[in-house]
Amino acid sequence: MSAGIDLENVCCDFGTFRAVDDANVSIRPGEFFSFLGPSGCGKTTILRMISGFIEPTAGVIRIGGQDVRGKRPNQRPTALIFQNLALFPLMPIWENISFGLEVRGVDKATRRRKAEDLLRLVDLPDAADKMVSQLSGGQKQRVAIARALAVEPSVMLLDEPLSALDLKLRQHMRAELRAIQKRTGVTFVYITHDQGEALAMSDRVGVMSQGRIQQIADPREIYNTPVNGFVASFVGENNIFEGRAGAAAGGMAAFDTEEGRFRARLAPEAEGKPVKLYVRPEHTVLTAAPGTENSVPVTVAEVSFEGPFIAVLARTAKGRAIVSEIRNDGQATVPQMGAAMHASFAAERAALLPDASVRG
Ligand SMILES: Nc1ncnc2c1ncn2[C@@H]1O[C@H](COP(=O)(O)OP(=O)(O)OP(=O)(O)O)[C@@H](O)[C@H]1O
Ligand SMILES: [Mg+2]
Repeated sequence: MSAGIDLENVCCDFGTFRAVDDANVSIRPGEFFSFLGPSGCGKTTILRMISGFIEPTAGVIRIGGQDVRGKRPNQRPTALIFQNLALFPLMPIWENISFGLEVRGVDKATRRRKAEDLLRLVDLPDAADKMVSQLSGGQKQRVAIARALAVEPSVMLLDEPLSALDLKLRQHMRAELRAIQKRTGVTFVYITHDQGEALAMSDRVGVMSQGRIQQIADPREIYNTPVNGFVASFVGENNIFEGRAGAAAGGMAAFDTEEGRFRARLAPEAEGKPVKLYVRPEHTVLTAAPGTENSVPVTVAEVSFEGPFIAVLARTAKGRAIVSEIRNDGQATVPQMGAAMHASFAAERAALLPDASVRG
């Protein structure tokens, strides 16, 4: 009851504007796959091509191994959930859910039974006879998911389905959606510009910028080993240094900046390209004595208590800001404002990365 999706060299042009540029990805049957990227990068366009509302300008899309070019949306084994749910306010919940079955001529008793099964699945067992107006935002969202599942799709396409909900509910719904996906085994293709959402829910994530898929990997790899500066910056925070890389040896290279010479990882494919140094604030430490490598003298300029961690902004003599995050384990010592300290980071935790891959 789930199907894989293959995009091969898929492009989508609107006039002279290329919205999706040479997308290649194999989404596995039963996988929770997210497309993550900023507004306008082409996420919805990819989803609309998979669902059949628009045709690619070039390339092939297969669902369950079948080339779906030319197939209308209702001929594809996909269900689409939008940000705006469009539930029917004058129908009780169970009829909302089974509406797609009524259109297909399924009898009333079967529809009712099916709606109740789906309501149990989305954890709303007592909602069958309620009206839409009696439900909260998160409950409505679950009804929309039950309704989409009613027609037994092999692929669920979800376009920012949580963006209308408040933060707490959104976080709760992440876990709910993930659980529903695991229970049904249906392939989920999820779209979001919220990195936390994508990392928390997905088996794998495709990070997009300007119509191009920049990296496809599991959430850990996306965060720990971004392939370029766009992915590093879009997913998480960084201290970034500009400079010039020397020759690489054993995957490491020297990097000359105005703050001095650093050492960092340099992937073979980045050799010879212009690169910048990226290091996460949680891998940047502040100490009274100089660090053993990649160490810069700094003055503490701002301390901000975030709850689970403490963010310290320090400045170099040249005025460059370096942020260090200290985990709040209850006994962490917080540096004093104005304190003279040293910021340092391990070479293995720092990466020399090119900018995003762009068309051309
Ligand atoms: N029908 C269309 N005609 C012309 N341009 C379009 C059309 N649909 C989308 N675009 C353009 O293609 C680009 C990608 O749009 P898309 O809707 O896929 O972005 P998105 O990643 O979903 O963004 P958001 O996060 O804002 O929803 C945008 O620059 C958009 O203006
Ligand atoms: Mg969109």
